[in-house]
Amino acid sequence: MISFNPLRTLPHAAGYGRGDVFVLFGELFGRGYANGLVEQARRAGMTILGITVGRRDASGDLRPLNETEIADAEALLGGKIINIPLEAGFDMDPDEHGISPVDQLKGVKADAWGSVELDWNAVEQARKAGIERFTAHLGRVMAELDARIPGGCNVLFSHTMAGGIPRARILMPVLNRVFKGQGERFTPSEVFWNSPLGRLCAVCFDEVTANTFGHLIDASGRIRERIERTGGRVAYTAYGYHGCEVLINDRYTWQTYTPYLQGWAKMRLEEAAAAAWEKGIHATVFNCPEIQTNSSALFLGVELSLYPLLAALEREGDGPAAEEIRTACQSLLSEGVTLDEVVASANQYLADPHLEEYRDFSAWPRHNSPEQAERMLSRATALLSMNRSQKDIVCAELSRAVFRSVGRLIFDMSWEPNAPVVWLNHDIVARRIVAGA
Ligand SMILES: NC(=O)c1ccc[n+]([C@@H]2O[C@H](COP(=O)([O-])OP(=O)(O)OC[C@H]3O[C@@H](n4cnc5c(N)ncnc54)[C@H](O)[C@@H]3O)[C@@H](O)[C@H]2O)c1
Repeated sequence: MISFNPLRTLPHAAGYGRGDVFVLFGELFGRGYANGLVEQARRAGMTILGITVGRRDASGDLRPLNETEIADAEALLGGKIINIPLEAGFDMDPDEHGISPVDQLKGVKADAWGSVELDWNAVEQARKAGIERFTAHLGRVMAELDARIPGGCNVLFSHTMAGGIPRARILMPVLNRVFKGQGERFTPSEVFWNSPLGRLCAVCFDEVTANTFGHLIDASGRIRERIERTGGRVAYTAYGYHGCEVLINDRYTWQTYTPYLQGWAKMRLEEAAAAAWEKGIHATVFNCPEIQTNSSALFLGVELSLYPLLAALEREGDGPAAEEIRTACQSLLSEGVTLDEVVASANQYLADPHLEEYRDFSAWPRHNSPEQAERMLSRATALLSMNRSQKDIVCAELSRAVFRSVGRLIFDMSWEPNAPVVWLNHDIVARRIVAGA
């Protein structure tokens, strides 16, 4: 088990510049964490290279991006994308009879999800097929990258991949009950996690969220050796999640979203970084605060711990950047609602004595309970209703501030990393914002 290792002082500015190369290992979406790092790489004048996970066509086959898709993706990234599909996971990969895990789940009725019987031998064959496909494609991607990365430059690989929910129709309604259900519509995460569907998710999460980092490090070995031989630096970063310290009752306190079912995979990701570090490779997992992105949209309540960032900004020095965020947030609230009320309401939830047991770092990740889910979801909904419009919310503003700050922190720290696993909590994130991200 990795011990809590928070970053407490702002790292020195990184020395990357023109001619150095930034490789984004995952796709870029408008509001995801990767935007913060891409912004820094762009600002430093680095050459930006990216990958795609590819797309599934109507028959389910994995294909590269088409002309329009690649043009859009390259415009968003501001760099060349190697157009060889790097979808990780295996939910749609076939066993020896051509049957994928998603095929096995076809036609399962909503009320029968708990008694699904999976052919685990076939699942294992699909898993192996998925790894073979991914690593074969990765080998071709690396050959292209090798040709594009000049000797002697510095290279920063940024891993963003996470996910792996099997794309079977039965899963989303079940997961909605696990993550957003209350009362009669609540399904305990532990019941789900111990069911065959949950066990399948666990294996998929490991492949997408954790094992891809190891594959990236292994497959880029040749590039790394060549760069280091010619005087350049190579660093790998990945985004982790393992709870986060935020201000609760005016004290920075570790807390977490529950039930974070990706948590076990995220710990494997930490272990992958630690194993690479042992071999002298600069691979660091940065455990980041909760924000709202495409990937976290399913987890209503994950944003509750974002609100105290407003208090952290004051605590860490305040000033024009903090004031700008406050003004933007205030303008999104309904008539008569103040930011102080929002922060106080979030704090009341985060400090709830009934939820004390969920703030135990050593017991992470925890499963939910009906009471915990009820308290979290009702508070999340109440806070969201304080926004003037549900389409334009305070959390989006705060998320943007966090991913930009985190981007700067990771960028700088990757220049001279000192550990394989680091926590970026609200104190350092706020301090970076106040100092100018
Ligand atoms: N959102 C949060 O609160 C939060 C907190 C801490 C860490 N993170 C981590 O930050 C990273 C980026 O996530 P984000 O929240 O910014 O959302 P995002 O949706 O912008 O990014 C998700 C990434 O995962 C990739 N991905 C998804 N499925 C994949 C698959 N099957 N194969 C390969 N790649 C796949 C996508 O291409 C994308 O790059 C993730 O590792 C996530 O776990 C997020």
